[in-house]
Amino acid sequence: DKGGWPSFMAKEVSEEPEAVANTLRGRIRDGQIVIPELDGLDELFASINRVIVIACGTAAYAGMVGKYALEQWTRVPVDVELAHEFRYRDPVIGPDTLVVSISQSGETMDTLMAVKYARDRGARTLSICNTQGATIPRESDAIVYTHAGPEVAVASTKAFLAQITALYLLALHVARVRGSLSADEARLQVLELEAIPAKISRILELEQSRIEQLAYWMADTRSVLFLGRHVGYPIALEGALKLKEISYIHAEGFAAGELKHGPIALIEPGQPVFVIVPSPRESALLHSKVVSNIQEIRARGARVIAVAEEGDVAVLPFADEVLRIPLADPLFEPLLAVVPLHIFAMGLATAKGLDVDQPRNLAKSVTVE
Ligand code: F6R
Repeated sequence: DKGGWPSFMAKEVSEEPEAVANTLRGRIRDGQIVIPELDGLDELFASINRVIVIACGTAAYAGMVGKYALEQWTRVPVDVELAHEFRYRDPVIGPDTLVVSISQSGETMDTLMAVKYARDRGARTLSICNTQGATIPRESDAIVYTHAGPEVAVASTKAFLAQITALYLLALHVARVRGSLSADEARLQVLELEAIPAKISRILELEQSRIEQLAYWMADTRSVLFLGRHVGYPIALEGALKLKEISYIHAEGFAAGELKHGPIALIEPGQPVFVIVPSPRESALLHSKVVSNIQEIRARGARVIAVAEEGDVAVLPFADEVLRIPLADPLFEPLLAVVPLHIFAMGLATAKGLDVDQPRNLAKSVTVE
């Protein structure tokens, strides 16, 4: 049931605040993380010396975001790998490796096979999954469910936010077990997480119709680029994937620092480029780097659409459009910056008259290799 929305995707984007809130619900007590599903695993978390995250598509981008938080808080090295690449090489894994799989459906064959492969090689496996009782969690040593609710539209939206939320909860939990974060430090991060749902609602309220209008004007666009740095990089990849998937427009995401190593050659007058701008308050250096990237592409005629924090005026002289997101600590910005990109992809597909829920050639869950 679409509940009055024109598509399941529209409904699911509107549920992004709840997807985060429901994934947090019952897992925070007195400012600390409590995940009953992980009881009894302290020894494992204390002993691991490596984490490998495996997933496909959007779930892999959630993993890339999670890497920043996991490494920052737990100080355990983290690799993120596409599930279908992972098992066709000879990965270095063993009992000290925790393999974290991420899957909305819990049925993605590539991810399932990678989990089995890791387990057979002696690694410990933990599944982050949105579907109760699915195959991947059943094949894993531990499970942290995301509580995004059923996702029907083929393109993943609310589940992506729930996956990042679950990874952050896991990272904070592991950091407390290992003692790499104090109770007070963890409490501050928990406060940031708890503030996210209201901030997403604010984006939907203040920016949604403006972004849809922008998408409508851009319905004839043939190619869109997305740039981001640090946690904004996987968000750029996600913005590009969603646009290809449902609007059939060529789109690519780049790490902003890669520009001069090649992609800047693509910039010609009128080329639309979304740029995820880090917070100027919290990461002044990164912010200034991204602003200079904006200047470089603008000088070559790019049409710049900046996703930037409220109050960031430094982007104004160089951006053709600024989509605003509320203030947050850098690690939490992905949970906000992705929302305008989901709205944009949906708006553009809608403007082209496409079926946003059932894009051509794609299935909701890919149960073949
Ligand atoms: C993108 C999308 C896909 C899935 C990928 C993994 O919008 O939906 O890229 O994210 O197929 O699916 P799950 O999470 O079910 O394993």
